[in-house]
Amino acid sequence: MLQIGSQNTNFAVFTFVLLWATITSNAPMMSCEASRGTVKYVDRCPRNKSEWLESARNKNCSRINQNCSSTEFVYHCLINQWENATVEVCALRVNIIGKCAEYNIKGAVVQEHARRDCRSFQNPCPAYYKSDQAYLYQECYDGIATTKQNTATSAAINRYIIAAKEKHCFIILIIIFIHGVIRCVLI
Ligand SMILES: *[C@@H]1O[C@H](CO)[C@@H](O)[C@H](O)[C@H]1NC(C)=O
Ligand SMILES: *[C@@H]1O[C@H](CO)[C@@H](O)[C@H](O)[C@H]1NC(C)=O
Ligand SMILES: *[C@@H]1O[C@H](CO)[C@@H](O)[C@H](O)[C@H]1NC(C)=O
Ligand SMILES: *[C@@H]1O[C@H](CO)[C@@H](O)[C@H](O)[C@H]1NC(C)=O
Repeated sequence: MLQIGSQNTNFAVFTFVLLWATITSNAPMMSCEASRGTVKYVDRCPRNKSEWLESARNKNCSRINQNCSSTEFVYHCLINQWENATVEVCALRVNIIGKCAEYNIKGAVVQEHARRDCRSFQNPCPAYYKSDQAYLYQECYDGIATTKQNTATSAAINRYIIAAKEKHCFIILIIIFIHGVIRCVLI
């Protein structure tokens, strides 16, 4: 039996909010600043396993100096968030759920590309796959402009500012949340 203001309710609310915060903060947590510097615009991505292994070996992500992960910072070849380029990038491997994968330059993160549901493709993706295996779902790369463009340095500064703002917001939200929890528990 739940009574408003009881310890049980407080605990339930606390758990729910914590769970929600964990789920929604997945993307920022998988972000890795070091991946930004490894972005290379390419005409196309590997089409089979041998090409994928070859490209991954050339990219040599293990040589990149980063503190994000010792095992999950790996080669990816993905579309970008605007669907106007394919990029090779060293980034944190994530679980992709039912969509094509994208490299989001603003967030320095690999994530689902909401507009492309690969489960409906002729060669469909499973409900869940590892992001670096994206080459298995070739239809994800269809219709992407392939103009080479490696002059993203000035734009990168803007992106960094935006990312910093987002982080700032997130910290404020957490402080408000903790404040609320303390009030709930103590008052
Ligand atoms: C992979 O694709 C390349 C280029 O399309 C082709 O030359 C090669 O034989 C393929 N390898 C395998 C194992 O299918
Ligand atoms: C990758 O980088 C490491 C460390 O710098 C180096 O020892 C290795 O030879 C490189 N491999 C390739 C294939 O370039
Ligand atoms: C990784 O962490 C070490 C020690 O904290 C620091 O000296 C180094 O600059 C960091 N490297 C990167 C790429 O962030
Ligand atoms: C892709 O589109 C975005 C937003 O319209 C633009 O800022 C960016 O420069 C474009 N990138 C390429 C490689 O065309």
